[in-house]
Amino acid sequence: MNTIVMGLPGAGKGTQAALIVERYKIPHISTGDMFRQAVKEGTELGKKAKEYMEQGLLVPDEVTIGIVKERLSKPDTARGFLLDGFPRTTRQAKALDDTLVELGKKLDAVIHIEVPLELLVTRLTGRRICKECGATYHITFNPPKKEGICDRCGGELYQRADDKEETVAKRLQVNLEQTTPLLHYYEEKGILHNIDGKKEIEEVFQMVETVLRGVHQ
Ligand code: AP5
Ligand code: MG
Ligand code: ZN
Repeated sequence: MNTIVMGLPGAGKGTQAALIVERYKIPHISTGDMFRQAVKEGTELGKKAKEYMEQGLLVPDEVTIGIVKERLSKPDTARGFLLDGFPRTTRQAKALDDTLVELGKKLDAVIHIEVPLELLVTRLTGRRICKECGATYHITFNPPKKEGICDRCGGELYQRADDKEETVAKRLQVNLEQTTPLLHYYEEKGILHNIDGKKEIEEVFQMVETVLRGVHQ
């Protein structure tokens, strides 16, 4: 099953992706996570990505397309993959199509999680992430049992550098500009599925599952 999860910052892409890959046993490919890992390791890619990420801007297409191409060529994508946060521009979407043709794969579904703007700021500024295992929480909507500590592994929770209010506003603006043409692109291909992301995490997952059951064979 070859799928994409799309949505504005804070829509719940990562949250749903974690549930989907657990259920379908396919790799979770998040460009945001890959860039954050590179920043942490201080690689050349990390240095380049950091400049853009901390300003809430998109990393240039040629950099982003390159890392996704490389990742999709790995053997663990044979049974499928879930892309989270890629593509984000029409140019990236076209490059993805070319890559999939080269690899003899095709997209089965694009899940678009729709959430009104006013909810996104609260979701992003209240998000907390585990330093050890990467699990995502929210101080109000999905709090850990013990404040500041991960339920799954006992790791310490932190706030993402780009989740400060000023950067959040910029991220939303930048992503809004790119979203409409991208939605069009997949709508025309007949593989776009819009999901109401205002609902609770579990309810959203039920809707996602219904869509995936329809395309999974
Ligand atoms: P990335 O890491 O992808 O960030 P993003 O798109 O801004 O999305 P987020 O990860 O912030 O949100 P999410 O939708 O995953 O929400 P989550 O599930 O965590 O990218 C970061 C940066 O990298 C970009 O700004 C850019 O610079 C660069 N980059 C990445 N990909 C790129 C690309 N393709 N091209 C160019 N540059 C790229 O949920 C958010 C919060 O809400 C959490 O606290 C969660 O617990 C809570 N929550 C989730 N679902 C619900 C719900 N249903 N109800 C209540 N709360 C919920
Ligand atoms: Mg995410
Ligand atoms: Zn953890």
